[in-house]
Amino acid sequence: MTITNRIPYRRIFVAGHRGMVGAALCRRLQDEAEVVTADRHDLDLKDREAVDRFFAKHQPDAVIFAAAKVGGIGANSAYPVPFLVDNALMAIQTISSAYEHGVERFLFLGSTCIYPRDCPQPMREEALLTGPLESTNEAYALAKITGLKLCQYYRSQFGAKYNSAMPTNLYGPGDNYHPEHSHVLPALLRRFHEAACAGDPSVTIWGTGKARREFLYVDDLADALVHLLVWPESGTEPADWLNVGTGLDLTILELASRIAEVVGYRGQIVTDPSRPDGTPVKRTDVTRLHQTGWRHRIDLTEGLRRTYAVFLEESRQGCLRQV
Ligand SMILES: NC(=O)c1ccc[n+]([C@@H]2O[C@H](COP(=O)([O-])OP(=O)(O)OC[C@H]3O[C@@H](n4cnc5c(N)ncnc54)[C@H](OP(=O)(O)O)[C@@H]3O)[C@@H](O)[C@H]2O)c1
Repeated sequence: MTITNRIPYRRIFVAGHRGMVGAALCRRLQDEAEVVTADRHDLDLKDREAVDRFFAKHQPDAVIFAAAKVGGIGANSAYPVPFLVDNALMAIQTISSAYEHGVERFLFLGSTCIYPRDCPQPMREEALLTGPLESTNEAYALAKITGLKLCQYYRSQFGAKYNSAMPTNLYGPGDNYHPEHSHVLPALLRRFHEAACAGDPSVTIWGTGKARREFLYVDDLADALVHLLVWPESGTEPADWLNVGTGLDLTILELASRIAEVVGYRGQIVTDPSRPDGTPVKRTDVTRLHQTGWRHRIDLTEGLRRTYAVFLEESRQGCLRQV
């Protein structure tokens, strides 16, 4: 799994370590660096004084920022104020406090929702700020663009090694399986699992099934982030922000079929074209990522098998995440 043989930082603060991405980062880094973490009730990243105290006490030399207030379309559209304020505050307080406390390396995480709604596909890094954002997650995207730009400005104004990674859709251990608020992949995994257990003759999926999406296993993302932490990566000039994905997409119907196979569901898959498909295609351009020497390793079927094994174990233990 390890492709980075040299992490030049002695103490790394993983912000958001209890989340899906943060937990994967902790797994990835456990044998390679001293990882510093803090629970939210001990360290609210919106609170500048608390963040200052934390950096003064622990003195990390690198930060990977995987903390965020995240939510589905419903929550994002209904509550834009906290999605903008909380995420922008967390980013600004943490990035600026890190710089003032001498943190040498900062890797900020956003998502591909920062790109314009009608972005040409595959989405290239240059598309940033070239058109209107998708209105349903505009507040979240604006906060993430603020963090990305702040890292860019610390680099241009002070020469700091601060930049950002923009992951595609993620899945894997620690995902959210809430029946209404979860993303498409965990939602389908749960639906097909329940249908298999109940012996349902068919499962209906929303839309035509023709929309195309890309998915990256979260442990692959963690591996990419550790690779990108090394500055400069493989002798190339580090980018201010970089897409992280597989560059491969598939239709929602194909995704449903793969999930059905992994969970052992043998009934029929029915589409419901009266429901919305969303954007027809969403795929990242990973040319720059590949130029740094990193490619994903865990293909979708393998990632689904691993995810389903964890899903079954967490269900058995009664600790499946449903928020
Ligand atoms: N999941 C995806 O498909 C996906 C795709 C692309 C990009 N990303 C990006 O990856 C990053 C992490 O996402 P994720 O899926 O891992 O999210 P997640 O599972 O919801 O984790 C977010 C973490 O942030 C912490 N947090 C939230 N507000 C905080 C605050 N005020 N102070 C301190 N900690 C706070 C949460 O703490 P608690 O545990 O206490 O709530 C949680 O540990 C985000 O930037 C997201 O945009 C995710």
